[in-house]
Amino acid sequence: MSETGTVPEDTAALAKSAKPAPACTMVIFGANGDLTKRLLMPALYNLSGAKLLDDQFTILGVDRDTGSDQDFQGRQRTMMESFTPDKGGEFAEKTLNQDWWSWLEQRLHYMAGDFTKPETFKALADKLGDGNAIFYLAVADRFFGTIIDQLHAAGLVKEKEGTFRRVVIEKPFGHDLQSAKDLNAHILSELDENQIYRIDHFLGKETVQNIMALRFGNGIFEPLWNRDHIDSVQITASETVGVEKRGKFYEITGALRDMVPNHMFQLLAMTTMEPPNSFDADAVRSEKAKVIEAIHPMSAADVETNVVRGQYIAGHMKEEGDVQSYTSEPDVAGDSTVETYVALKLMIDNWRWAGVPFYLRTGKRMSTRKTEIAIHFKQAPFAMFRDTPVDKMTPNVMVLHLQPHEGISVHFSAKQPGQNVVLKPVRMDFNYQDYFELKPSTGYETLIYDVLIGDPTLFNRADNIEAGWTAVQPILDAVAKGGCKIHTYAAGTNGPAAADAMLSLDGREWRKPG
Ligand code: BG6
Repeated sequence: MSETGTVPEDTAALAKSAKPAPACTMVIFGANGDLTKRLLMPALYNLSGAKLLDDQFTILGVDRDTGSDQDFQGRQRTMMESFTPDKGGEFAEKTLNQDWWSWLEQRLHYMAGDFTKPETFKALADKLGDGNAIFYLAVADRFFGTIIDQLHAAGLVKEKEGTFRRVVIEKPFGHDLQSAKDLNAHILSELDENQIYRIDHFLGKETVQNIMALRFGNGIFEPLWNRDHIDSVQITASETVGVEKRGKFYEITGALRDMVPNHMFQLLAMTTMEPPNSFDADAVRSEKAKVIEAIHPMSAADVETNVVRGQYIAGHMKEEGDVQSYTSEPDVAGDSTVETYVALKLMIDNWRWAGVPFYLRTGKRMSTRKTEIAIHFKQAPFAMFRDTPVDKMTPNVMVLHLQPHEGISVHFSAKQPGQNVVLKPVRMDFNYQDYFELKPSTGYETLIYDVLIGDPTLFNRADNIEAGWTAVQPILDAVAKGGCKIHTYAAGTNGPAAADAMLSLDGREWRKPG
């Protein structure tokens, strides 16, 4: 990096070196659903703009409703036109770039079909022929097994010499350990592991990938990155949105299943994994699985002290004003005890992290939208400053800001100018946008591109998924038995008081997100 903050040419050249992905048909099951409209299409549009798709690339949307290619194209165009940078952030320009969009639009096709009927897959086989294909399951999880069975029965996942057939599976991957194991066993009886791409969209976020670059591409951090120097770590994913129209899904899912074994554990794994031997997909995924497997199993008693579940009640949001309680949201039971917030304290049983608590929290309708990882370093060992006892000094904290602003800040103490030695907390900031051109991105661009080129590094292997569920299973069991009672918090606040109490028992407090 040059001192002026400009990107040196070799870095710029590297960024430009990605080649268009091989020709392929991307079949999207659930083509009329939200995921397709909100994330996949904008991501494909961005890939079209970046010239990373082959001229022979096509998309075949499959869904139940009847309709023509033109209807499908029209619906996608309307949706794309409704996005603006301030809402979705998918576009660099204020309006749709007509060149990028028309390139994509002419490649959009549609086929009506029932995901459970062999006729659909017969018709699909006729359309696809022998070329490369990706089957993207943008559907409710109850269809995952059925669609894969049908694809298999129709011979659609058989890879002929020199071609690929890959399946992309969205979350939720199972709803507990047993169901995740069953689903893995089921799909692995019909597909090879290397044909399966289990998505966790957090891994598509640039800043999440950057955690590895920070840790393993620099010499100064890794020597400190262990129990000798780190006191504790806080991982926060707070959202301001409520459950929106997803009441039905949320009632059977809740914040724990929705965010923890997947997104939160990906952040945890990136922060705590050992350096892999290489950036080979399996080397990285093995290190991640290893550290998640090392999470100390919670006993029923641990769950009561180390987990806090919360649910939002009516409150006031900065931007939206007064909002209703979770139990008044559409499709939510009036007496629901499903959590919209969860905080947990985890320990990792390995040489590097023994004794270091990891505090994780995530919730809806919280005061701010913020995803961050805060590494709290141990206090200086000795109070050499008159009038500033060591326990009053601000501890050093390094915060990796992932969302909505991307950067890193380091908090430390500096001497306030003057005759007396008085230490004051200061903060050193690095913002990605000061150094790099941040292209609007949904996070799905990298993931779709990686499926197309066959790079599974950023996707979960069966063992990664099962390790995540293993760690949260004791909590699910406790809740099923009526334990781990729900606490309330007012919308617009930072979660229930019980979560603060959990940290104060350890003599710590949550960082104010920001
Ligand atoms: C999804 C969850 O996987 O991730 C949502 O189902 C959550 O409930 C979302 O809002 C958060 O993702 P992001 O990218 O908006 O932080």
